[in-house]
Amino acid sequence: MASDTLPLPPREMRMLVGPLEDDAYDNPRGNPVFAHLPPEVYESVVDLGCGCGRVARQLIQQRPQPQRYLGLDLHRGMVRWCEQNLAPSAPQFRFRHHDVRNVGLNPDGQALTLPLPVEDDSATLVVGVSVFTHMLPDQTIHYLHEAARVLVPSGLLVATWFLFDKLDFPYMQEFQNALYINLEDPSNAVSFDRTWVRGQARNAGLTIVHAARPAVRGFQWTLTMAPAVAGRREAAIPTDSSRRGWRRPPLRPHRAEQIGI
Ligand SMILES: C[S@@+](CC[C@H](N)C(=O)[O-])C[C@H]1O[C@@H](n2cnc3c(N)ncnc32)[C@H](O)[C@@H]1O
Repeated sequence: MASDTLPLPPREMRMLVGPLEDDAYDNPRGNPVFAHLPPEVYESVVDLGCGCGRVARQLIQQRPQPQRYLGLDLHRGMVRWCEQNLAPSAPQFRFRHHDVRNVGLNPDGQALTLPLPVEDDSATLVVGVSVFTHMLPDQTIHYLHEAARVLVPSGLLVATWFLFDKLDFPYMQEFQNALYINLEDPSNAVSFDRTWVRGQARNAGLTIVHAARPAVRGFQWTLTMAPAVAGRREAAIPTDSSRRGWRRPPLRPHRAEQIGI
């Protein structure tokens, strides 16, 4: 079974993406990685912010595997690790450095947004696990449009989000729709107003078709979006009634951009 032979990413890389335990990287039974999605959606996958291959590794173990997979990340060392350690087990899996600037992970990146290196109308699934939670508003708008561009009409974007309700923050201006927790590096964690996300999805030509509450109140929502077509119904984003708890990620180590290089 692949889980016995596929390498697991080193701890120093897991520290950059969040989960540290082996189970979070593993899929020993080969189950569908996103239980709520139809099986045909895994044909051609684009994984934006693939990190050290957590979702890729699970997809390699999934039966059936995707026919095509492209993992993109702005951290050079993690992309290199995926190329060297995961791609050899699944030749249809490719990983590419996406040279977007990020204070802590890619300070010399060439731009704040780049086109996805993917043809129009070619992906059945775009994955964004814990990546829009690190993007500024303009980046989010750009990558929602890019997801809409590359998806086939029956394709899906499954992505996680920190959401809040701006009605709880009466001092926020009409043009202010994000909350940040780190003055030095705003991309550390970004929460968006839930109405703003819905509106930006619509502007990009996407419809929210499924909204799953976070495991812990205020943590990551999973929103599934589909290209907007006549008659497709929007899903409501319910109230966050999840239990309270903590989900503090590991603190980022010094010189994180050098790890794996
Ligand atoms: C919290 S990690 C999640 C990694 C992976 N999706 C997972 O679930 O394990 C966020 C990742 O997104 C990457 N990232 C953030 N913004 C990005 C962007 N604009 N383009 C590509 N990668 C990005 C970071 O380098 C980091 O590896």
